[in-house]
Amino acid sequence: MISANPILQPKKTFPKEVFLNGEWINSEKAFVSVFDRGFLLGDGIYEVTPFYDGKPFRLKDHLDRLQHCLNEIQIEFDAFSLQEIMLEAVSRSGFFQSDCAVYIQITRGVAPRTHFFPEQIQPTVLLYAFPAVLNGFENKQASVLVSEDLRWHRCDVKSISLMANIKANNQAHSLGLDENLLVRDGFFTEGSHTSVFFVKKHRIFTHPEGPHILSGITRKVILEMCREMDLELSEKALHINELKDVDEVFLTGTTTQILSVKSMLLNEKEIFNRPETGEITRQLQEAFLKLIRSLS
Ligand code: PDD
Repeated sequence: MISANPILQPKKTFPKEVFLNGEWINSEKAFVSVFDRGFLLGDGIYEVTPFYDGKPFRLKDHLDRLQHCLNEIQIEFDAFSLQEIMLEAVSRSGFFQSDCAVYIQITRGVAPRTHFFPEQIQPTVLLYAFPAVLNGFENKQASVLVSEDLRWHRCDVKSISLMANIKANNQAHSLGLDENLLVRDGFFTEGSHTSVFFVKKHRIFTHPEGPHILSGITRKVILEMCREMDLELSEKALHINELKDVDEVFLTGTTTQILSVKSMLLNEKEIFNRPETGEITRQLQEAFLKLIRSLS
């Protein structure tokens, strides 16, 4: 259906080493208890931070969001205590001058299974760096599947319980598509792992922050760039019936950056087709490229 899968990252491999509960361990020897609440209940959160040429991008924003998520689910942990370890993960993995990302996962920890939060429990902290393709996004386009947004009502919390996201994305993947656009009550919210923007008559639309989307860091960068570039912007959700007037659609995310949407499939029908990347998407991609390649 599509010539190349643009979002697909290099063949996933296990990292050699992970940082688990305060120490660096060969990943083959890194184990977590079967009574960890992440395993039993999906009781945890995660964060993914990009590093361009080995340099962090928006590190503070990522750690702020991690702290927000920890606070929201009442895990007592200082997200910023991981800052140095993130940098160490990148250098230990040899990504001094290459593009990569750092994955962090924090679960509530190990305890006999209960639906309430146990007291005096030590969080389980996992962190590792992995290679990521963070270039060439400006030459690609994505084909997406429009799916019902079946997620919970706290999508601002980057929960490790991703069943609704992965079920939707698996369907897209099985159709040879790259991502989903999720629709809740007729309104586009975001992708299964990306934020989404629409351009309609030179105005950019994106879902407002709140419980129905993740507050994307790349989304935030786009909003800043729109202001700097004097582009018209509305943080307003777009209804699926408004799609006919939409000129451009693009996805954003840490490992996706800014990806133009070529086509949209809904119930086996193509409801959107733009074989070229639009003008505003192009302008934002150029500005974003300047930003990431000027990191020091
Ligand atoms: N996904 N929306 C959802 C549901 C996401 O999972 C993500 C990120 C985004 C984009 O956020 P950001 O610009 O901060 O990456 C939006 C990550 C990368 C993941 O799940 O791997």
